[in-house]
Amino acid sequence: MSNEGNEIIELDKENILNTYKRFPLAIKEGKGSKFYDYDGKEYIDFSTGIGANTFGACDDLWVEAVCNQAKTVQHTSNLYYTKPQVELASMLVKRTNMKKVFFANSGAEANECAIKAARKYSYDKYGEGRNEVITLVNSFHGRTVLTLSATGQDVFHQWFYPFVDGFKHVIASDIDDLNKAISDKTCAIMIETVQGEGGVVALDSEYIKYIDKICKEKDLVFIVDEVQTGNGRCGYLYSYMEYGVRPNIVSTAKGLAGGLPFAAILFDEKLANTLSYGQHGTTFGGNPVCASAAVSVLKRIDDKLLAHVHEARAFIEKKLSGVEEVISITGKGLMVGVELKEGLKATEIANSCIENGLIVLTAKTKIRFLPPLNISLEDLNKGLDIFIKVLKEAK
Ligand SMILES: Cc1ncc(COP(=O)(O)O)c(C=O)c1O
Repeated sequence: MSNEGNEIIELDKENILNTYKRFPLAIKEGKGSKFYDYDGKEYIDFSTGIGANTFGACDDLWVEAVCNQAKTVQHTSNLYYTKPQVELASMLVKRTNMKKVFFANSGAEANECAIKAARKYSYDKYGEGRNEVITLVNSFHGRTVLTLSATGQDVFHQWFYPFVDGFKHVIASDIDDLNKAISDKTCAIMIETVQGEGGVVALDSEYIKYIDKICKEKDLVFIVDEVQTGNGRCGYLYSYMEYGVRPNIVSTAKGLAGGLPFAAILFDEKLANTLSYGQHGTTFGGNPVCASAAVSVLKRIDDKLLAHVHEARAFIEKKLSGVEEVISITGKGLMVGVELKEGLKATEIANSCIENGLIVLTAKTKIRFLPPLNISLEDLNKGLDIFIKVLKEAK
């Protein structure tokens, strides 16, 4: 790495809180599915900033939408009406058949809002005490104290006591375990259709359909956390759409604004009027620049793009089939988990990929790919060639 790159790494270590195990790479710039470091070295990007850069780096149409809005008005607060917000909300409502939208800044905030709304719905209708939310073991819902409490991984339940009461974690895709957990205290069930941080594990479709059914029968709030799976990532606008189910609340973030911090929480008719004046709010949520970026992203998540996501997935599966070091490919669409042969360590493989010009992610013991949704098959092929070479050289 050049002096400038090294200097950035040193200044980072000196001045920034040490909460990330960063890879030894300082990214200078990017275009499409490629990033460049300070030596001008090229990297194929299979990470998109963890699923945020929907159309890769500095996509022309996205840049235009962002710059136009930044030149018009960058921020107003939520005390006034803005066109980008209503344009985006109308598009989301139309395309999901949900009824109302709230905008936030991050996935964790989106889930906070979803849980608050679910509890308030139950409080309004059934009074105190019916406030338990069932989530899944190995789920990930965010880093605030509430969303850490929702997250079904013990590793996150340390140090920051007291956590928030009222969460039960059940084994994913196990209907019996779910039934045992439901009681007259339950108000909501919250899932990711594919557990991303939990290891790129897709839930059984029968399980997802069962949750939809039981929530309707018992008037529970069905929340789908589409922070990572949403916005085309799994080959559908929102991943729940694959299963013919209808959640009461959908939270989404990451890819929604194509690389700007933004989130949306969608409510169906049951929840549409649950939160009202003064009961929730944010300074930046719904920011016009982010909302304009999201409008431009959402417009392009059409049938053609979704077909490309499916095609790209099939391409990856074909290319990696028969590679001895790959045990299985998990996930959906361009949310790809690669289970490695015993003995291969995901972090070491990810480091070697970077040395060889490919950026990948890890999820538990797997390698995870979240490439741009419009990545060309040519770039995909180039990246996979590097990945296979790294696997073959790893010992
Ligand atoms: C499913 C899911 N929910 C919530 C979050 C938290 O999102 P954020 O980091 O934007 O707060 C993540 C982040 O990885 C996620 O994957």
